[in-house]
Amino acid sequence: MENKRGSWGSNIGFILAAIGSAVGLGNIWGFPYKMGKSGGFTFLIIYVALAVFVGLVIMVAELALGRKTGKGVVDSYREVSKKFKWIGWLGIIAPFLIMSFYSVLGGYCLQYMMLNAAEFAFGVNNGIFADVSGGTTFGAMLTSPWACVFFTLFLMVLCYVIVKGGISGGIEKFNKIGMPALFVMLCIIIIRSLTLPNAVEGLKFMFVPGYAVNAGFISEAPGFISVLATAGGQMFFSLSLAMGVMVTYGSYLGKSENLVKNGGVIVFADTLVAILAGIAVIPAAVANGINKGMSVGEITLGGPKLLFVTLQDVFAEMGTFGPLFGVIFYALVLIAAISSAISLMEVCATFFVDRAVDKGKEPNRMKITFWISIAIMAEAMLVAVCGLGENGIAPANLLGIEVKGWNDCWLDFMDCWSEGVAMPLGAMLCSLMIGWELGPKFTLDEVHSGNKSAFFDKFFYICIRFVCPIVMAFVLKGQICDGFGLVGEAAGYIISGVLLIGFWIFAAVGNKKD
Ligand code: PHE
Repeated sequence: MENKRGSWGSNIGFILAAIGSAVGLGNIWGFPYKMGKSGGFTFLIIYVALAVFVGLVIMVAELALGRKTGKGVVDSYREVSKKFKWIGWLGIIAPFLIMSFYSVLGGYCLQYMMLNAAEFAFGVNNGIFADVSGGTTFGAMLTSPWACVFFTLFLMVLCYVIVKGGISGGIEKFNKIGMPALFVMLCIIIIRSLTLPNAVEGLKFMFVPGYAVNAGFISEAPGFISVLATAGGQMFFSLSLAMGVMVTYGSYLGKSENLVKNGGVIVFADTLVAILAGIAVIPAAVANGINKGMSVGEITLGGPKLLFVTLQDVFAEMGTFGPLFGVIFYALVLIAAISSAISLMEVCATFFVDRAVDKGKEPNRMKITFWISIAIMAEAMLVAVCGLGENGIAPANLLGIEVKGWNDCWLDFMDCWSEGVAMPLGAMLCSLMIGWELGPKFTLDEVHSGNKSAFFDKFFYICIRFVCPIVMAFVLKGQICDGFGLVGEAAGYIISGVLLIGFWIFAAVGNKKD
């Protein structure tokens, strides 16, 4: 009987699926707006350095862990580690929480795509859509919770259909078409964006050191630690790390594949798409603002509204073909969202598939995926109805407590625990486990079946033991302080410092030498 779990049809299929997971709202939405907030070029440089020294290393470690055990994230950690058995649970809870808002945001893209399509079909300003400006559209959408629930449901049905098709029959198939299509659409939007008058100002913002402050986009450059924390958090989210995805996808990979090369291609492609998305979004937003007579400081680059307000304005004000570009743009964001959402769902699905296989049963993927979709839909309802806090059911309202970053809406609440806490903590513990409890040799032995490079071995050794845990402690501090305002600065340093040192000692001390 062939493998009941399934496997990738080809290495390129795996690479496209992993890129599909990595390329998501994080790249097209998060990267440009975080870059906008964190001073353009400085952010870019720090981001790229982190992707190489931390992202690639954890990526290879996760793929190797998954492939070595041939199991999903919970069972993988349980099998290899005595001390960190339980961190696999962080890697399954986080994707489950992320899906609560990822599906809603995907639903938003679907709504924007349809709106632009209708706008293009019926003509601009024909009286049917009195005002398609970003602000009006966004406000109307957030305060129509049932439309949001409907579109979220629609997105979940799409994900259900893909994930129930299995690894090669569903996920790989979708990405083989979706990823090339996304790339082509992105190129079309870049060409349109860069041919707008004054687009060059946006390019300078991205690529000229110090330009963001000198030209007045932001009043002062944010501190190094704060940019490091923002870029680090963004990098992890964008590469789908510490969320069980790469362990899960790695578990379906053949022994002869080269994990270093695969990891490198995924990191490179994800970073490239993030930068390209920046080039598509930032110059368009800047050009449109300047052409309307705004000063650069007035243009919203630094917040979540960039995608749904500023950019919708660009399309609404572009003339007859504007809405068509709007359709292409939001369709590409939608593909990116779906290809990531299915990987999040797959983490949960693999967990149950493995349970069934362990009991000697034939896994019923359809049933498993169905119940996972229902559970996600239940939590997503909260996020959809909440409308980013517009509709009075945010955690802060319900609990009657002071409004903070983590409780001002359900999206931030879910994001706080998943991206803000579980992810940096999970990544820190993962690097301590691999670097100090199991030792780098554990991963490198697995890597060697497809790649032998003394240079990579040394690089991996230093990064996994020292660079990764320390960087993750800063990211953790940044997430719990700046990102969510859970605690103050000093408390943030103390909490993450104590966790780092405590777990470091825990990981390193008392291991049997063999
Ligand atoms: N990497 C995805 C993005 O950039 C999000 C994601 C995170 C997907 C974690 C899977 C796991 O949007």
